[in-house]
Amino acid sequence: MKITFYSTQPYDTLFFNRYNDSFGFELEFLETQLNVQTAPLVSSAAVVCVFVNDLVNEAVLKIFSERGVKIIALRCAGFNNVDINAAKQLGIRICRVPAYSPQAVAEHAVAMLLTLNRKTHKAYNRVREQNFSLNGLLGFDLFGKTIGVIGTGNIGKAFCRIMRGFGCSVLAFDLIANKELEAAGVQFVPLIELLNKADIISLHCPLNEQTRHLINADTTGMMKRGVMLINTSRGALIDTQAVIDALKSGQIGFLGIDVYEQEEHLFFRDLSATVIEDDTIQRLMSFPNVLVTAHQAFFTEEALTQITLTTFRNVGELLKTNNLINRQALLV
Ligand code: NAI
Repeated sequence: MKITFYSTQPYDTLFFNRYNDSFGFELEFLETQLNVQTAPLVSSAAVVCVFVNDLVNEAVLKIFSERGVKIIALRCAGFNNVDINAAKQLGIRICRVPAYSPQAVAEHAVAMLLTLNRKTHKAYNRVREQNFSLNGLLGFDLFGKTIGVIGTGNIGKAFCRIMRGFGCSVLAFDLIANKELEAAGVQFVPLIELLNKADIISLHCPLNEQTRHLINADTTGMMKRGVMLINTSRGALIDTQAVIDALKSGQIGFLGIDVYEQEEHLFFRDLSATVIEDDTIQRLMSFPNVLVTAHQAFFTEEALTQITLTTFRNVGELLKTNNLINRQALLV
C-alpha cells in the first residue's frame, strides 16, 4: 500500500524510511505543502500523510475522494487544519498521533521561558564577542512565582509538573479540572482569575472556535503588567496585533512563541535570502523581549520515533479493520 507524504522534510524521510521495514508500505515523499493546487499530485495513493500546515479543507478532500484516497494520516496531534465534517461526508477516515511526547513540547515551553527570563541567547552572543558585562541580563527567580496554564491535557499536565518542580505556584484553567494535578498542588481557577494573578502564562489548549484569539486586547488587559506569555500550541490562539500593542505598552513584558498565525507562509523553510513580506512577524522579531522559534517544540528524537511508529500503526490498523483501538487517534 502506498502512502503519499506532503510537506516532507529530510527528517521525515529519515524516520519513516528507518521504521518502514516491519510495515512494508510504499512511501512517496512530496516536499510541497498540501492545498487545492497540490492535492491532484496524489496519483494512486489510498493513504495520504500530512503535517500541521497542510490544508485539508473541503475542496482538497473532494479532490482526494475523486482520486480514491481512503485514509488521511496526520503525523501530528492538532487537527485544526482539517474539515472533519467534509471528511465524514466523503467517507475518508482521518487519524492523528494524539500524544507522542508531551514532554517534548512542555520542555520546549520551559526552554523558552528560561531563555526569555535569563537571556541566555544574548549572553551566548555577548561572551563570544568577549563582552563579559552583565548589564541588561537581569532576570528573576522562578521559585515562588505564579504560573498560569491554559489547557491541562497531555502537554499542559507535563508543563504543570515541571513548573511545580521549580517551586512555582501553578494556577490552571481547563474545561475539566484534573484530579491528579490537583493532588500535585495545581489549583484550577476561572480564566479571569488566572489572567489576573499569573506572572507567566503558557497556552496548551487546542485551537477551535472557542479558543481562537483567546489572547486579545481584552484578555491581555486583564493580565499582570509585565506578564510573560508563552505559546507552543497554535498561532491563532493569539490575536497577534493585540499582543504587539501590549508589548509596545509594556503590558506584556516577554513573549515566547513557537507558533504563529501566518506560519504556513514561513515556517519549516530557509528564507534567509528572501525578503519577508509579512510585516507582523518582522515587527515581532524586532522586540528585544520576544523569542520566536519555528514550530520546533515537538522536535526531539523520541517524539519523531513515536510519531513515525504511531502513524504507521494507525494506517495499518485502519487498512485492516477500518477502525482504531485508540479512539483518540481516530478523528473520522
Ligand atoms: P490535549 O487534547 O491532550 O489537551 C488539550 C486540553 O485543552 C484538554 O485538557 C482540553 O480540555 C483543553 N481545552 C479545550 N478547550 C479549551 C478551552 N476553551 N479552554 C481551556 N482549555 C481547553 O492536547 P495536547 O496533546 O496537550 O496538545 C495541546 C495542543 O498543543 C495541541 O492542540 C496542538 O495545537 C499543540 N501542539 C503543538 C506542538 C508544537 O510542536 N508546537 C506539538 C504538539 C501539539
